[in-house]
Amino acid sequence: MTLGRTLSKVLLAACLLIGSLWMSGCSSTPETDAERQARWQQGNLTSWEIQHGIGPVVEDIKLAAVDNALAERGKAIFVQKCATCHYLDMKKTGPPLRDVAKRRSPEYVMNQILNPEQMGKMHPDGRQLVAQYAQFMTIQGITRDNALELLDFLRSEAGNPAVPMEQQPGFGTPPPPPTADAK
Ligand code: HEC
Repeated sequence: MTLGRTLSKVLLAACLLIGSLWMSGCSSTPETDAERQARWQQGNLTSWEIQHGIGPVVEDIKLAAVDNALAERGKAIFVQKCATCHYLDMKKTGPPLRDVAKRRSPEYVMNQILNPEQMGKMHPDGRQLVAQYAQFMTIQGITRDNALELLDFLRSEAGNPAVPMEQQPGFGTPPPPPTADAK
C-alpha cells in the first residue's frame, strides 16, 4: 500500500469520526418516533416523562378552566368505558380516581388513558400500579378528544366529596374477568 493511499484512508476515517460526532452531538434534529420507542424499551425515560408519562402526549398541554360540556361528555365515556374497572372513591379492578387529576399532571392522565399498555410496562409508576393491582389497564377506541373530555370530567370531580357506592358513576357495571398476567 502506498503512503498516499494510507494517508487518504486515515483522512477518510477521521472525516467519518468527526462527521458522526458532529451529527450526534451538535445536530438539533428532533428524536424520531422510532428512536423514542427504542429509548423507552431500554427504560431510559427523561425527567419530563417520569413526571408526565409516556405516550402520544410529549409536551405540556395548556388547560383552560374545566369546561362543563366537555366534562359531561367525559362522564358518559367514563360510565361506558371506565366504570367497569374504576370507581371514583373505592378500589375496583383499578385504583379510585376521585383525586387523580390532583395527584397526577394532566399530561400523565392523558398518557395513561391513551397509552395504558406502555405506561404499565415501561413507566415506573405504571409498573408499580400494575404490580399492586395485578392487572393491566386495557381500553379501546379512545381518541385524544375523548381523553380530553375524560380529563375534564376527572378535573371536575377532583374537588368534590366522596359519595357512597351506589352513587358512583356507572355503579352496577360488572368488573371484567381478570386478564392479569402482570409479573
Ligand atoms: C380493564 C380494567 C380497566 C379499564 C377498562 C380502565 N382502567 Fe384505568 N386502570 C386499571 C388498572 C388495573 C390500573 C392500575 C394499573 C395501571 O396503571 O396500569 C389503572 C390505572 C388508571 C389510572 C392511573 C391512576 C394513578 O393513580 O396513577 C388512570 C388515570 C386511569 N386508570 C384512568 C382510566 C380511565 C379514564 C378509563 C376509561 C377510559 C380507564 N382507566 C379504564 C384498569 C382499568
